[in-house]
Amino acid sequence: MKITAAEFISSYADVRKCPEPNKPEFAFIGRSNVGKSSVINMLTQTKGLAKTSAKPGKTQTINHFLINEAWYLVDLPGYGYASVSKTTREGFGQMIEDYVLKRENLSCIFILIDSRLEPQKNDLSFINWVGSQGVPMALLFTKSDKLKPNELQRNVSLFKKTLLEDWDEVPPVLITSSEKKIGRDEVLTFIEEALKV
Ligand code: GTP
Ligand code: MG
Repeated sequence: MKITAAEFISSYADVRKCPEPNKPEFAFIGRSNVGKSSVINMLTQTKGLAKTSAKPGKTQTINHFLINEAWYLVDLPGYGYASVSKTTREGFGQMIEDYVLKRENLSCIFILIDSRLEPQKNDLSFINWVGSQGVPMALLFTKSDKLKPNELQRNVSLFKKTLLEDWDEVPPVLITSSEKKIGRDEVLTFIEEALKV
């Protein structure tokens, strides 16, 4: 699928203020600094469309980007960032929880996982929670440029194996590097298929 137009629409802290839910949308959720905003820039090939930072906690609101005038990509704040105040840190943050539970036009949530790390508790519990809510999801392993192919495979396999302790099957898995532009076609093809449903 080709992206011919990518436009920033709005930035809100409250799901009730987000654009009318009349187009399918795809959201990027994961720990702070995992590379959510960077993936949006890679997909749209627009540097700086979503604001990125080497410091965790950059994205603090729900950001809608209208793609091809037909569907939304959504950038969200991260979870699990220790220096954010305790109330914000509780659960996965009220904003993210409300968004997942209330956004009726949500086609799929991409849960981003840092491919360098062994399975992290907060990622696993977020995946378990989204799964228990019956919201469609895919796992997107980020920063794959940072490790060797065999290390990458080992970490992805370990993650799947860990999930299979609780679930009968694992969600679709995508591997990306925003730095090296890896996985762009795969993610766009995945979205294209989801748009057909
Ligand atoms: P918050 O908004 O703070 O939750 O972070 P985020 O998940 O949106 O991460 P962001 O896209 O801002 O990226 C965080 C840092 O990781 C930045 O310094 C990026 O340049 C870097 N980064 C993101 N993706 C990649 C990648 O694929 N490879 C490498 N090497 N670095 C990356
Ligand atoms: Mg961000």
